[in-house]
Amino acid sequence: MKVLVFICFAVFYTNATNISPETLGKIIQKSKEIVKPCLERTGATEDDSVDFMAGKVPTTKEGKCMIGCFFKEAGLEYDNGQLKDKNGFLDVIKTEDPDFYAAKMKISQECHSEIPESDDECEYNTKLFECNVNKSKAANIPFSLLSR
Ligand SMILES: *[C@@H]1O[C@H](CO)[C@@H](O)[C@H](O)[C@H]1NC(C)=O
Repeated sequence: MKVLVFICFAVFYTNATNISPETLGKIIQKSKEIVKPCLERTGATEDDSVDFMAGKVPTTKEGKCMIGCFFKEAGLEYDNGQLKDKNGFLDVIKTEDPDFYAAKMKISQECHSEIPESDDECEYNTKLFECNVNKSKAANIPFSLLSR
């Protein structure tokens, strides 16, 4: 079973990372494009997507299902326990701030082993996401991609 990975990009605005504003802008733009078909598919609203990118855990079914869709569209998945970034979505983060990238990878791995798998993919992905948000906060690692 493929399991989505929650690197959850993170970042920015605060410039607490070494990632340049240009790159940041590109990631945000790309994320907005990626999430578009997910809104149509799940019925989630644009507000849901902004909240999600800001690190707020969705409470509605639509918002919860959007999370899994997003990571799938972004090409971020676990495949047989092996982390895959199929589209190179995170390459720029890896290049510009390897420490930040490594910290995010570690958190994602931890959450993957801590959160029990569930048949309800939307609930499962939401739990993983929440775990990532919690651990990022605890480690003082920036989380949100956008802020409003
Ligand atoms: C995240 O933190 C909140 C608030 O402390 C807690 O209620 C929730 O259970 C935590 N979730 C996970 C998945 O760790």
